[in-house]
Amino acid sequence: MEDRLYGQLAEKMAGQIRSGVFSVAERLPSVRLLAKREGVSISTVTAAYSLLEEQGWIEARPKSGYYVRRRVREPLATPSTHSMHSPPVIATTSQLVMDVQRDGFRSHPISFSRATPALDFPIIRHVEQTYTRLSRTSRHMGVGYTTPEGPYAFRQQVARHAVDAGVTVAPDSIVTSAGSLNAMGLCLQVLTRPGDLVAVESPCYYGILQLIEACGLHAVEIPAHPETGLSLGALKLALEQWPLKAILTVSNFSNPLGCSIPDERKQELVALLEQYQVPLIEDDIYGDLYFGERRPRAIKAYDTQGLVLLCSSLSKTIDPQLRVGWVLAERYYEEILHRKFVNMLSTPILPQLVCAEILGQGIYERHLRQAREAYRQRYLRLVDLVSEHFPSRTKISRPQGGIVAWLELPRRVDTTELYHYGRERDVLIAPGEIFSLNKQYHHCFRLNYAPRWTPEREDAIRKLGQWVAERIA
Ligand SMILES: Cc1ncc(COP(=O)(O)O)c(C=O)c1O
Repeated sequence: MEDRLYGQLAEKMAGQIRSGVFSVAERLPSVRLLAKREGVSISTVTAAYSLLEEQGWIEARPKSGYYVRRRVREPLATPSTHSMHSPPVIATTSQLVMDVQRDGFRSHPISFSRATPALDFPIIRHVEQTYTRLSRTSRHMGVGYTTPEGPYAFRQQVARHAVDAGVTVAPDSIVTSAGSLNAMGLCLQVLTRPGDLVAVESPCYYGILQLIEACGLHAVEIPAHPETGLSLGALKLALEQWPLKAILTVSNFSNPLGCSIPDERKQELVALLEQYQVPLIEDDIYGDLYFGERRPRAIKAYDTQGLVLLCSSLSKTIDPQLRVGWVLAERYYEEILHRKFVNMLSTPILPQLVCAEILGQGIYERHLRQAREAYRQRYLRLVDLVSEHFPSRTKISRPQGGIVAWLELPRRVDTTELYHYGRERDVLIAPGEIFSLNKQYHHCFRLNYAPRWTPEREDAIRKLGQWVAERIA
């Protein structure tokens, strides 16, 4: 199927909805009929309808077809992007980051602030039952230290699962960790020394910025496009200009933009790494949560020289409480293993064995199918709510997967003020300020759409929107 063809068809149908050819709540032609009428394949029409659905024009009703959505208006514009990289900045901790972390533990807040998955899926019960069974049937206490690389059974499951992202890796070149952030920390300790420069995408997940600070590094922020991620042009310029020691990027459904580097550009990115011989730490923590038909590949899938260190975990797909992650260390294996040893000797074995079972039994795949559809629907609901309650100049990202959306407001709105306003009312958001060291995003903020929508959560969006509307009135 040609990409451009379904895009053109989607645009044509959107034009027809906009001009009233199809009215609100009206059923659109069936996929088969439209394919025949337009002289295109069924898959082209299906892809065009999916795109229109993501853009909020139409909705699919099970066993009935596609309908024009209730309240049709232009989909919100996507957030803007900058074209140049920023000069290196010494990372400094923002107290705000720690406040946002701690806020989540206040009593019963309505939280949109942390990138936590929904925790009411049946897989949580499976995990609990597996914990109970394994702790009864085999010994985990009284066994002393375990090996730093982690149990083979779990590493083997990670290696099997990596195939879905286009990656072939031996279990013996994987090191397990206490989550993906911890895995990235181990990589940075191996690849850099204090004072070195590393490139990150901008806006960037604040945990990565904090990690950079903790390692005494300087960050070069490379702009990310809201849909296609890290700008390769700006990265190339930065590679020419600065002696970068490493690049960190969240390759698929990044946090906060939800953007993904298209697979063909991942290949170009690897070519750049090879040209400059700079290693890249890839965080693919959201890759399994795609809304489309297939999982995007990892950058690692294109790496033939061992320059990509792929990190991930089960924090976003199951529960961050597991604290189970890994890094495909390959040529850095011994150094990373040593770093894990000096940092923590090893990580607890029981959660890793539980995860090995969960991944091995097909429960995980079943769960992912359910989670992906739920998150896709919840994102669409968020777009509806933002359209309804926020001023029309509000822009919202269009993630093709993952659990977070990025909103951009007119520049004169300060989202740290919005954060404080919400906090006093037990509504938590992640203000844009913490996603950069260059104070670029004070008018943006991040919302987590993973939890089920409830009247309280919907009302919280209304309150936030009202505050913004008053600010720009
Ligand atoms: C992009 C990204 N990487 C890493 C993490 C932390 O993951 P973990 O719990 O596996 O350390 C987060 C959490 O928000 C994240 O969004």
